[in-house]
Amino acid sequence: MIVLGIESTCDETGCAVVKDGREILSNLVASQINLHKRFGGVVPELACREHADLFIPLLNKALNEANVTLNQIDLIAVANGPGLIGALLVGLSAAKGLSFALKKPLIGVNHIEAHLYAAIMSAKEEIEYPCIGAVLSGGHTSLVLVKNIGEYELIGQTQDDAIGEAFDKVAKLLNLPYPGGPEVEKLAKKGNQAAFPLKSGTIKNRPFDFSFSGLKTGVLYASRKQTLTPQVREDLAASFQHTAFEDIISKTLKAAKQYQCNSVLLGGGVTNNQTLRNMFAQTDLNLMWPTKELTLDNAAMIAGLGFHRYKIEGKSDLHLEAQTRIPWSLGNL
Ligand code: KG4
Ligand code: ZN
Repeated sequence: MIVLGIESTCDETGCAVVKDGREILSNLVASQINLHKRFGGVVPELACREHADLFIPLLNKALNEANVTLNQIDLIAVANGPGLIGALLVGLSAAKGLSFALKKPLIGVNHIEAHLYAAIMSAKEEIEYPCIGAVLSGGHTSLVLVKNIGEYELIGQTQDDAIGEAFDKVAKLLNLPYPGGPEVEKLAKKGNQAAFPLKSGTIKNRPFDFSFSGLKTGVLYASRKQTLTPQVREDLAASFQHTAFEDIISKTLKAAKQYQCNSVLLGGGVTNNQTLRNMFAQTDLNLMWPTKELTLDNAAMIAGLGFHRYKIEGKSDLHLEAQTRIPWSLGNL
């Protein structure tokens, strides 16, 4: 089954062609980083217009690269949430238009669930279910029990900032450009992680929940107390990153123990961070990381998961709506 994937939840326009949920025939991402950089973050209205401008040329390129025609597509998978409403609507309208015109089924895919699927898609060996899923992205930080593709139980989530958001905010405090995550990682490489005694938050009676806003404020106060010399910036970046990752790793380990899981699926933009991968490698968990091309927002993970979702639940109808948030209580992510 040849699936066209469409991604437009935030500031990356993605088009991909994937066979049978796994074999990537093409996976193109048009990044808008240069457009938003001068504003220090994503400007939603600009993101929508850019998605609209970029979509058709990107679609043609993705089809060409995959060496398939529109008529050979069997299913159109689109990320219909969570994300920025205007941005979502561009991809969703394109997907509905294609579905209607080509008389091909449409399937709506949850972008966050797709970040976890990216690790499944990248795995060389069979996945052992149940396993723990850790979503570490710009908008979400959650631990879930993955019983199978499409069957999840929320274990814990952030009560304030997502981990990627905390990286982006700390980057701003350290006068680093957007997007901040990779910049903080680069700066942290030169710093001393023990220089500043920072703390991640814990939530009473909720051992698997996260809180990064206090940690971020810790960086703010520390940065105000002294001149931001190159050394101080490096040390602050290293201390922040180390503290946040230790918290994520210890909660993931605890969840794996409590739910008797050996394997952990990791997904979302922060999994791009090599220091995180190295720190996790010190544990005895069986770690399943997405390949680097599947860590950040992309449409291959949407097409891949769309294939499975279609098998599980059948097609979505043309009334499929864009959802800025998707509550966990709906039974999936
Ligand atoms: O998953 P993603 O592409 O988008 C969302 O679904 O949110 O994640 C983007 C987030 C941004 O906050 C970005 O700063 C962060 O991932 N990120 C990183 C790194 N690369 C991207 N954070 C830490 N270290 C990195 N190397
Ligand atoms: Zn994402």
